[in-house]
Amino acid sequence: PTIPTLADGTRIDDLVNLATREVQMRTLSDPEIYELEMERIFGRIWVFLGHESEVPNSGDFVVRDMGSDSVLVTRDKSGEVHVMLNMCTHRGMRISTLDAGNTQIHTCIYHGWAFRPNGEFLGAPVEKEQMYGKIRTKQELGLKRARVTLYGGLIFATWNIDGPSFEEFLGDAKWYYDMLFQRTDRGLEVLGPPQRFTVRANWKAAGEQSAADGYHTLTLHRWLGEVGNYSKKGDGEGGGGDLSPEMYGSEVSSPHGHALRCIDLARKIRRLTGKDPSQLSIEEKLAALPPAGMTPEMVPQLKKHLSDGQLQALTWMPPQVGGIFPNVLFGFVYIPQADGSVVGSITLHAYVPRGPDKLEFVNWILTEKDAPAELRDKMRKQTTQLFGTSGMVEQDDSDTWPHMTLGAKGAQGKKMTLKYQAVYETGKPEGWPGPGIINEGFTKDDTQWHWWLYWRQLMLGEI
Ligand code: FES
Ligand code: FE
Repeated sequence: PTIPTLADGTRIDDLVNLATREVQMRTLSDPEIYELEMERIFGRIWVFLGHESEVPNSGDFVVRDMGSDSVLVTRDKSGEVHVMLNMCTHRGMRISTLDAGNTQIHTCIYHGWAFRPNGEFLGAPVEKEQMYGKIRTKQELGLKRARVTLYGGLIFATWNIDGPSFEEFLGDAKWYYDMLFQRTDRGLEVLGPPQRFTVRANWKAAGEQSAADGYHTLTLHRWLGEVGNYSKKGDGEGGGGDLSPEMYGSEVSSPHGHALRCIDLARKIRRLTGKDPSQLSIEEKLAALPPAGMTPEMVPQLKKHLSDGQLQALTWMPPQVGGIFPNVLFGFVYIPQADGSVVGSITLHAYVPRGPDKLEFVNWILTEKDAPAELRDKMRKQTTQLFGTSGMVEQDDSDTWPHMTLGAKGAQGKKMTLKYQAVYETGKPEGWPGPGIINEGFTKDDTQWHWWLYWRQLMLGEI
């Protein structure tokens, strides 16, 4: 394909400098670039829309966004989940003006055309006068449908009907995601509807940070080491203002822009057991510290769903924070409690583009379906306090993105660059059981740089 050029003559491939690992700031504010992203990224790849537990029953629906398009996410009578453009095929009115609901008939409020939850055209008022016309058949008048996949209950959809499968899109990263989303018999579910708030920022400011930027934690979230249970000084655990031990681990980069931070658990396990983790079996480690969001009673389920290598990684350096390209962040993190124990928190954010300088931050709180009521309550409360729309952590992050977006509009600012020059060059730790592009050590820029490389490829139309 021809390389797209912006109105001022800039070629899209010049926005990402492969030699110096820099990205032009203007990418964070330019309306032309934004329009191209809606076509070439959100119009083509798999986009996250929600969790199937949000539409558990026949007729349930939620309204979400795939880039700049509103979509209906529905469940039909057969139990299948569908994603369709939220636009009437008559004159383009929005089919659902609600956020969520239940109906077997979606009726357009303009002239009353009606559609089934699977998108089929049901009929139009004054049917005997054939008000849908003689040119098109009823079959042709159904809603525009996207291709849908469910992964661990997460709903993804794409307009690229014949494109790569979702598994191909995840690639090697799937081995790591499976440890989080496909680890138990009954899987995850949402704890209520998602929280939402609008941030005056370009979606990529949040998106590239979600590609596993661990570094900012030391400064932007410095308070994590200074207040409450976080600040308690444990045996080499950090605390007392020092978050740096949490910066070590293995980071997973992906040619498709996905990213994971696998953080070393050794200190936590040593503190909980008083023993050297290298002397403990996988079972002993799981008993001392079950994966975030699980109880010791649920641990036997892991063996049914995960390989030995995954169990080894899960008890050594489990994935705790990561992103799914282009706009999803998730955390499976351990929150310290006053009594020295930890409570797992599972959160998932989507940064939905709302124009070149606006995004909607959508936050889902998740739990294992099998988690006991007491744990669910704690998870809901602590995840909201930290990672919710008014959460202590997210108030920090959402403060930076608007400044970057505004700065990228400046006559001088737009000519500056984002820099991704901290390179690992370390490779995987010895004995690491997982696939993919792995680097160990202190958190670096590699995962985010891969995020931009995939962004560039998509924008150039290379894939
Ligand atoms: Fe929907 Fe006319 S636009 S029925
Ligand atoms: Fe952050």
